Amino acid sequence: VVQQFGPQRLSGQNVVVTAGGTQEPIDPVRYIGNRSSGKMGYAVAQAAVTMGAKVILISTRPELPVPAGLHKIIYVETAAQLQGTVSSVFEGADVVVMAAAVADFKPDQYVTHKIKKKPHPTDMQLTLNQTPDILAMLGQQKTHQFLIGFAAETEDLLQNAQTKLTAKKVDLLVANDVSQADRGFGADQNAVTLLRPTAAPETLALADKSVIATQILERVANLLA
Ligand code: CTP
Ligand code: CA
Repeated sequence: VVQQFGPQRLSGQNVVVTAGGTQEPIDPVRYIGNRSSGKMGYAVAQAAVTMGAKVILISTRPELPVPAGLHKIIYVETAAQLQGTVSSVFEGADVVVMAAAVADFKPDQYVTHKIKKKPHPTDMQLTLNQTPDILAMLGQQKTHQFLIGFAAETEDLLQNAQTKLTAKKVDLLVANDVSQADRGFGADQNAVTLLRPTAAPETLALADKSVIATQILERVANLLA
């Protein structure tokens, strides 16, 4: 095996990255969302381009600058749209990075008009359903793809992340403590622990998301080599 060094270590690899939080509409003016900024996913997409990969970015964040050198960017809003779009490019992918924060819950019914205030606030109810687990679905369907998941946790980081690694059949899980303001959601920096099915956990120290992204993809390049 020839180990390649330098910036082109992912050349010839088709990499799909999902980024940002999905939005599940309640009515034409409201949605259920989450605090994901999309920065980590964008950093991964940019780092993959720099390492020579052909990158498709699936994003919920049209306001963010488009990373230079992408093969394609596709914008989505909902978990269902994200699922459909990832599925359509999954077969041709070598590496899939599920950095998107998929909303876990969506309104049972979309109301086509703006819901008006009620005379009695206690009348208000919103019935929710769970969205499909896209990463778990990909874990079931994968043939040759290298799957990377993220775990956002506020407590019991490693136990919860380990459970997700196994349950979703991912090859590399990036465990992220989102209870601290200097890292994770919205921050420019991150500190993560990488979990793999058959190796000891590896902690990456607090650093810019671009640095963390490169470190993650270096591990992937090593494993693909
Ligand atoms: N994920 C997904 N589809 C969902 C929910 C999550 O594909 N409906 C993916 C995320 O993109 C992430 C991983 O699963 O890569 C873990 O997401 P996380 O929110 O940490 O875990 P959940 O399985 O949703 O569990 P919980 O939120 O209850 O901790
Ligand atoms: Ca979740």
